[in-house]
Amino acid sequence: MSPARPVPDLTEAEAVSELTALADAIAAHDIRYYQQDEPAISDADYDALKRRNGEIEARFPHLVRENSPSLRVGAARSEQFSAVEHGVPMLSLDNAFSDDDTAEFDARVRRFLKLGEEPVAFTAEPKIDGLSASLRYENGLLVRGATRGDGRVGEDVTENLRTLSEIPKRLAGAGWPEIIEIRGEVYLGHEEFAALNETAAVAGQKTYANPRNAAAGSLRQIDPRITAGRPLRFFAYAWGLISAPFAQTQWEALSKLKAWGFRTTPQSRRVHGVEGLLEAYREMEALRPHLGYDIDGVVYKVDRLDWQNRLGFVSRAPRWGIARKFPAEQARTVLEAIDIQVGRTGALTPVARLTPVTVGGVVVTNATLHNADEIARLDVRVGDTVILQRAGDVIPQIVSVVIEERPQGAKPFEFPQVCPCQLHTPVVRETTATGAETVVRRCSGEFACPFQKLAHLRHFVSRRAFDIEGLGEKQLVIFTERGWLTSPADIFRLHEKRAELLEIERFGETSVGNLLAGIEARRTIALDRFIYGLGVRHIGETTAVVMARGYGTVEAFLEAMDRVAARDAEAIEELDAMDQIGGAVIEAAAAYFAEDHNRAMVLDLRGELTVLEAEKPKTDTAVAGKTVVFTGALERLTRDEAKAQAERLGAKVSGSVSKKTDIVVAGPGAGSKLKTAAELGVQVLTEDEWLELVGG
Ligand code: IVH
Repeated sequence: MSPARPVPDLTEAEAVSELTALADAIAAHDIRYYQQDEPAISDADYDALKRRNGEIEARFPHLVRENSPSLRVGAARSEQFSAVEHGVPMLSLDNAFSDDDTAEFDARVRRFLKLGEEPVAFTAEPKIDGLSASLRYENGLLVRGATRGDGRVGEDVTENLRTLSEIPKRLAGAGWPEIIEIRGEVYLGHEEFAALNETAAVAGQKTYANPRNAAAGSLRQIDPRITAGRPLRFFAYAWGLISAPFAQTQWEALSKLKAWGFRTTPQSRRVHGVEGLLEAYREMEALRPHLGYDIDGVVYKVDRLDWQNRLGFVSRAPRWGIARKFPAEQARTVLEAIDIQVGRTGALTPVARLTPVTVGGVVVTNATLHNADEIARLDVRVGDTVILQRAGDVIPQIVSVVIEERPQGAKPFEFPQVCPCQLHTPVVRETTATGAETVVRRCSGEFACPFQKLAHLRHFVSRRAFDIEGLGEKQLVIFTERGWLTSPADIFRLHEKRAELLEIERFGETSVGNLLAGIEARRTIALDRFIYGLGVRHIGETTAVVMARGYGTVEAFLEAMDRVAARDAEAIEELDAMDQIGGAVIEAAAAYFAEDHNRAMVLDLRGELTVLEAEKPKTDTAVAGKTVVFTGALERLTRDEAKAQAERLGAKVSGSVSKKTDIVVAGPGAGSKLKTAAELGVQVLTEDEWLELVGG
């Protein structure tokens, strides 16, 4: 979604469209989270979507959709389990993200109940990060267990829940209502989670992203024997339908649940007023790393149940409770090494190797450092203690260095000057087309660097380069893996491998025949495609056309490139004089042809081909020798097409209007260039008039 506009600035139409988009997005995330146990975004990002939805709805209450995410809890249950209607809906809690939000919660409660100065008593309970379940007991016997589902109807997972040792099949003690739905959280401890994932990894099965997803996936198994093998645990903290009241306060209720054989969270406390709420939050935050299971916040509940009754609910959440969420979890660990990974385009990415550490229940051993500039910005050094944060649920990031703990003698990281590929070719800092340096560093090994070979070959056969039919990514991968393709020239020697090709699965006479014919068809090639196909950085299609026209023949081109690589002033000047060619192209060409393996590859390729002479600029057309400027929006041609066409007809295309300009082609929206043209008395044509002139 595009960056959010402030809610007060939204028009009603914008609000409608954003609410629709938010409803769709949240529904899709709900399905991934609740049904597939595989969320695509972090909880924080998900919360942000819900919050935005709520803010827009608060400003436009008449736009609240019938299926609004704010009126819904969780997602529809999966078809795999039968439906169970909860005796009382399983609702959710609103979130608080700050001390202010917490104070506001207390104030709201007091306002609603019209209370005086006396501080309100609350329970503060750790918010267990698992999945909630509802257990129905009749006469003390467990008769049914269900997931939350959409809050009203859940999934019947009775047999699975029965396998949990912490769920009593028969209530202990006495005094329980004849019918009671006990609610609580099914979760997995960190150690159990790690062991489960390790077993799965060894067996080649999918691993879970975090303990919560692992718990959900483990509970929602068709075969309860699988659930039985997973060490799921359970904390009780609430109830749904009851045939008779059994407590006066939440605190008393928790102690009853415990007496009946459930585990309740030992960190739960009874507190008073805002100070009590905030203090409990700090305490829980401090306990969090030592619990051995995930908690993602603190749940506050008004202790008195008669007050809870009076406070009641607003749409999906109780007025008597709120969840104060923790910010993204951070951890400290040691940076053991910085490795360099080479991407398929030759970009070098530094990766931090860390002493394994658990962040939010996931063991993290690597983090990306993005690029050399990021390393410099953080001034992170091998041996440093670093603060790690999991952004979203997946990619861990290093946010800062604990300078006080830097070991003596730790040296700033030196970015490698050569690629870790077999060639040890120089690493160059990437520049943009205008010559500005970027943060990216690349291996200059090009085709010879094994990391880059595939990307280069893909470019070589692409539609605008050699355009070889039947030779796509899939074939390239197969052929490179077998060692038949190490450079583009090998493509034109594939016919020697006809017998081997026929042995590959699904490569019949026809397909091999077509492939080889497709290759033969390109053995004769235009010079501009040849140049473009080499994949020299900054030599795009248009530049390749200009160079082809400028040099005319492949021999002239190759000779000029050798001279440019040798920094021959005359050759550089000649290239520089070509239309729209500047420093970035010259540097890239020089670097490319200075590498022996690149030169060898190009010569090898040339030996396989017949490269056609480029069309000489025309002199017998209406626009030959004229300087043309295109401005405004063109409607029948793209800017590139118009330019290529003009150049083909011998015109020179320029970006600015001057006394030397002969023709300005102006489309809708043309501005200052049109004005300058009028002032200088330059001929102005519409796109249609231009096309008529050039006979397009
Ligand atoms: S009370 C009407 N107590 O947080 C709300 N929920 O967003 C009843 N949770 O669905 C829930 N620990 O999955 C409650 N001590 C606790 C909790 C807790 C975790 C989860 C639960 C619930 C969600 C609310």
